[in-house]
Amino acid sequence: MAEALQKLILDTLDAHSEIKDTRFLVIPGQSTPATSNEDQISILGALNSLSSRDMIAYETHEVSSHVLTAEGDLIVKDGSHEARVWSVLPAKGQGAPLTPVQLKKQVGDETAKVGQGRAFKNGWIGKEGDGLVKLTADIKDVTKIDLEEIASTGTLKSGEKVLADLRKRKLITQKKGQWFTVRKGKDFSTSTAKPETDLTVDMLTSGSWKNSTFKKYNFEAAGIPTSGGALHPLLKVREEIRNIFLEMGFAEMPTSSFVESGFWCFDALFVPQQHPARDLQDTFYISDPKHALPPEPEYYKRVSEVHEHGGFDSMGYRAPWSDEESNKLLLRTHTTASSAHMLYKLAAKLRGEKVEGDIEEFTHGAESTTAPAKGDDFKPAKLFSIDRVFRNETMDATHLAEFHQVEGVVADRGLTLAALIGFMRVFFSKMGIERVRFKPAYNPYTEPSLEIFAFHPMLDRWVEVGNSGMFRPEMLEPMGFPKDVRVYGWGLSLERPTMIRYGINNIRTLVGHKVSIEGIENSPAVMF
Ligand code: PHE
Repeated sequence: MAEALQKLILDTLDAHSEIKDTRFLVIPGQSTPATSNEDQISILGALNSLSSRDMIAYETHEVSSHVLTAEGDLIVKDGSHEARVWSVLPAKGQGAPLTPVQLKKQVGDETAKVGQGRAFKNGWIGKEGDGLVKLTADIKDVTKIDLEEIASTGTLKSGEKVLADLRKRKLITQKKGQWFTVRKGKDFSTSTAKPETDLTVDMLTSGSWKNSTFKKYNFEAAGIPTSGGALHPLLKVREEIRNIFLEMGFAEMPTSSFVESGFWCFDALFVPQQHPARDLQDTFYISDPKHALPPEPEYYKRVSEVHEHGGFDSMGYRAPWSDEESNKLLLRTHTTASSAHMLYKLAAKLRGEKVEGDIEEFTHGAESTTAPAKGDDFKPAKLFSIDRVFRNETMDATHLAEFHQVEGVVADRGLTLAALIGFMRVFFSKMGIERVRFKPAYNPYTEPSLEIFAFHPMLDRWVEVGNSGMFRPEMLEPMGFPKDVRVYGWGLSLERPTMIRYGINNIRTLVGHKVSIEGIENSPAVMF
């Protein structure tokens, strides 16, 4: 049909060299001229296809026409309300006048209501006693006559005022339409053969390319968007937080060991062996192999001693020590296990050991801001990491069994709690979080400990954003740090700020099989 329509347009142009008004075309398969809007839309499709090949050129003309509503149609069929009222009444003096109730029964409520008023106004009917009678022997039902004209021509000769009135009475509605004038284009021909889109080897060898018409290149076409790799929102936010740490002079700790021992994840941090966090319900333990290689014996001894019997001015937990508990392998529950490894390395020179690996690279740039050097081998350090941790959690909209932890550690002489608080304020303000509050909390490895709350303007309440504290002497001194070296640290999840940034409220839209690749590709970069 599209093809036939194009052919009709071309043939008509061939015969008459112009089509003045496309409403006079008779579309193939139809018997009447193409006056409807739908017809003109099909014609437009054909015109566009032909003009893209420069076979024709056309101009558009806007028209507005009117069509009848369902009620308008009814009036054309049965007469206007007023005519219907008039027709059922007896002529004056020729029968019993109809009471309003009788009239309603005859023509229906709606017609009686609308029709009475108009018939009165037209002088067609009048009152006689309590009833109504015809006053004229004949009427001219103008509404019906007007509507008939509109139904066949789309408009009214008598003018816009009447049209507006009929629109107001909801008997007609306005319809915008188009029609076209068409001329021959520069590549006019009566053949509708589709232009070739490709020049093929066959066309070249047979020579058929000489008689082919080719579709023109469309240099304006937008083209297919290319797809490529895209960074996951978590990675984008990680990069931003990483940059905050780097610009504050921090070095990134290695965190590749997801599997740790109970010793490094808990014991070295002075977490009691009976602590509930170490329960099966909270920690994933490895079944094969079950046990870690033993840590360095002297350090192991100092740690187990301080747990069981105390030392370094602490009374310890005075609970039996279990080697078995200490060397269990597990998935790390926090990156503080990695911090413990690093701090232990940082204290190596202080223990009189030769440093293996280059811990220097981690202390580089971390100049002491609070205390002068004492001539020993202690070097201040500012360290951070952002990596995965695992917890045996019940999963819900905001919890998975693994998440990313952002962790920072600062070691220097004479650090105070005020320094920690001040530092937190700067760190969070760089993330765009200006209003922070601190609440005393408990961690086995820090004292004092502070939970960090931030004011969330969208939620209009304070939400917990992190946990922090000054590491305990029972953790630092067995590593070999002098008493006046203080280390503070803090941790937060990467998921929470990411979800807030991207307005995500279910973690499953961020991680897991429900993540939409398209959503990831389209997710904007964020700036704190
Ligand atoms: N490890 C803590 C947590 O998992 C965070 C923390 C790190 C707290 C360092 C204090 C010091 O929540």
